[in-house]
Amino acid sequence: MLDLDSPSVQFVGLVSIVGGLIVWAYTLLTNPLAKLPGPWYSIWTDTVLRYHILKGQRPTYVHSLHLKYGPIIRIGPTEASIQDLSSVKQIYRVKGEFLKSVFYQKFSPDRHNIFNTLDVNFHRRWRRLLSAPISETGLVAHQPVIEGKIRLAVQRMVEEMEKRGAADVFHWFMCMTTDIIGELSFGESFHMLETGSKTQYIRDLEQIAFASSIRATIPWIYKLAQWMPFRTPVLTDIAEQAKRTMSYAGQAIKQHYDLVDKQGEDAKPTLFSKLYKAGEDGLNFAEIRDNAASYIIAGSDTTTNTLTYLVWSVCKHPHVQRRLVDELSGLSDDDLEDQKLKNLPYLNQVIQESMRLYPAAPSGLPRAVPREGAEMGGYFIPGGHTVSVQAYSMHRDAAVYPEPLVFDPSRWEEPTQAMKDSFVPFGGGSRICLGLHLARIELRLATARFFRTFPNAKMSNLEGFSDEDMKPAMFFLLTPKTRRCLVEAS
Ligand code: HEM
Repeated sequence: MLDLDSPSVQFVGLVSIVGGLIVWAYTLLTNPLAKLPGPWYSIWTDTVLRYHILKGQRPTYVHSLHLKYGPIIRIGPTEASIQDLSSVKQIYRVKGEFLKSVFYQKFSPDRHNIFNTLDVNFHRRWRRLLSAPISETGLVAHQPVIEGKIRLAVQRMVEEMEKRGAADVFHWFMCMTTDIIGELSFGESFHMLETGSKTQYIRDLEQIAFASSIRATIPWIYKLAQWMPFRTPVLTDIAEQAKRTMSYAGQAIKQHYDLVDKQGEDAKPTLFSKLYKAGEDGLNFAEIRDNAASYIIAGSDTTTNTLTYLVWSVCKHPHVQRRLVDELSGLSDDDLEDQKLKNLPYLNQVIQESMRLYPAAPSGLPRAVPREGAEMGGYFIPGGHTVSVQAYSMHRDAAVYPEPLVFDPSRWEEPTQAMKDSFVPFGGGSRICLGLHLARIELRLATARFFRTFPNAKMSNLEGFSDEDMKPAMFFLLTPKTRRCLVEAS
């Protein structure tokens, strides 16, 4: 029997602990990342980073480090944040080997879709098949659905203003974007615009998205929750919720499959219907179900938050509002179609500037450095380490965007090449947002219809609403912290 009290055993134990600590310290201090500028503690730990992630403030924290330490910084023992343009281009090279990091798997390990896959072959195949239906040309067939939902959303705002004295534009944009992507993916709207409330499916999705971001940040908390004597629904029910959402998505797709079987070409098209029976050039049922479900998450909050911050920013800047309304007043109601809106310079500058200051995905998007490592801005970053580019910092670089905190759409009248290259609200490279054309169509149509209907829109102070409500919470996505935005129109 080993005598734990014996001095020799204790000595060996002590030597092992001290030896382990020395090896650990040596490994970290000789890691090339130790040479990167950054706070001293980030050589040893990313606890401070995780703390800011849990507060919903990762982008502001990392940005404060960029302001202090420069464009290439260490934010944890194995992670760097990159704001240097040529390194950003290197990371986002389309033929790049900077693959999505394991973060995406931790985010949603129970699902496999185009957003979270780390498998290059799956991704290539899915991307090739899914791109055409959601391209600008592919979306032409869906314009009547998109326009109809936007018209209805603005109508619901008019009604709410009459009844309540103000409309919650965040709420109605959320109903609108969710109904649009629901109908385009499943062939059936969630009818949130009609009922004004969320379905169980949407409530489940929101819970999953929130719990997933906690799980990706501190994975052990999820395991701990399973053993706790009391229930923490947001963490413990996640598997049940995920099962429910998959079952709903499966039913919805099955219904549309059957409809296409019966009605053939006459059935309402979706972003997936051409792939149902395309054999080798199609997707199987589970692939369609899982990717359609991922569209609902990726395509609702993002566009909602962008539109909400756009309306708020425009209303807070009367000269911008006047110029936008003037431009829109040259159109008739029949002219509110996307082809015409694409040619309106100021409308597009307003959209661009809103996405610059309030990018819906402001945080670093983690990528794994290829095995052989990479040289960036004179520093070597070893293979397997993580690099991430955050739109929040790229869009606030004063050398590229003078007075970066000022909301000034006219800066986009004649953008420099650096402005265009630094603008990354949709990410970049082979994983750039697949839904960006749909997003831009929704942004143009909804902005134009909103400001034509409410040319005098202004922020309300009903029910204590103020700019404080619009302070962003940034849990991977950027959203007003109280998830409301009240607008009045005289
Ligand atoms: C203003 C609105 C939107 C913004 C700012 C936005 C932003 C982004 C960003 C930054 C990424 C890259 C994520 C990463 O690299 O980790 C992304 C990916 C993606 N987005 Fe969007 N998005 C928007 C709207 C949409 C819409 C409407 C859809 C509808 C289907 C969509 C579907 C997707 C998909 C499927 C991916 C994964 C693409 C891939 O990995 O190949 N997004 N989006």
